[in-house]
Amino acid sequence: MCIETEEELLRMQEIGRIVATAREEMLSKVKPGITTAELDRIGDRVLDMHGARSAPRTEYQFPGATCISLNDVVAHGIPGDDIICEGDLLNIDVSAEKNGYYADTGVSLVVEPGKPELKALVEVARSALRKAIAQAFTGNPINRIGGIIQDEARRNGYTVLKNLTGHGIGRQLHEEPRHILNYYEPWDNEPLKEGMVLAIETFVSTGAEYAHEKSDGWSLTTTDESFVAQFEHTIVVTSQIPIILTRI
Ligand code: CO
Ligand code: CO
Repeated sequence: MCIETEEELLRMQEIGRIVATAREEMLSKVKPGITTAELDRIGDRVLDMHGARSAPRTEYQFPGATCISLNDVVAHGIPGDDIICEGDLLNIDVSAEKNGYYADTGVSLVVEPGKPELKALVEVARSALRKAIAQAFTGNPINRIGGIIQDEARRNGYTVLKNLTGHGIGRQLHEEPRHILNYYEPWDNEPLKEGMVLAIETFVSTGAEYAHEKSDGWSLTTTDESFVAQFEHTIVVTSQIPIILTRI
């Protein structure tokens, strides 16, 4: 969506804060021994407490309130009996709706004590998002975002996933622009507009370029044993620094 009124901004700020709160609450409870289903219930409770509804569940009948992806699973991991262990690479992605407005956020982390190589991957996915967001202002072409993510990955010896992307968001979980790529695509040069609401996501990998669906029909995984880290914020484009709706 493109925000045009104060009311719309307030609504987006509200749902942004809610998904960020759920993300942080879940993050604070990550420890070896907890299952992904237990973590999911914590996120679900935060959403419920604030009058928000899980977007993947209501939009796509996803079997969980949040997506929790462990190790070889890149995205859309189904919360379940998997026990979180030391050294695991974990991704938590929370998206939800309230009053017809949607926000989406994601974070990766390595459960301590973890391998330095995995932690380095996570830090690059994080810095790539920070740098991409800093360039998401009015008039910049949309492919600037992918260019920055790809540069940051490459500079550190990593690849980006080509078939997982960020997206427009606001009145729906996924709306125009449908795909905010993680790489530079010359034709994709529409200028960003004031008020545009975008979910920018980074997918940085130790080697993979594509994620593949697993037999559960949801989870996406790499097929070459490489790891992927993802960070995501919902932002509003302005003429200067974007408003990050999902930062606490
Ligand atoms: Co998203
Ligand atoms: Co997400």
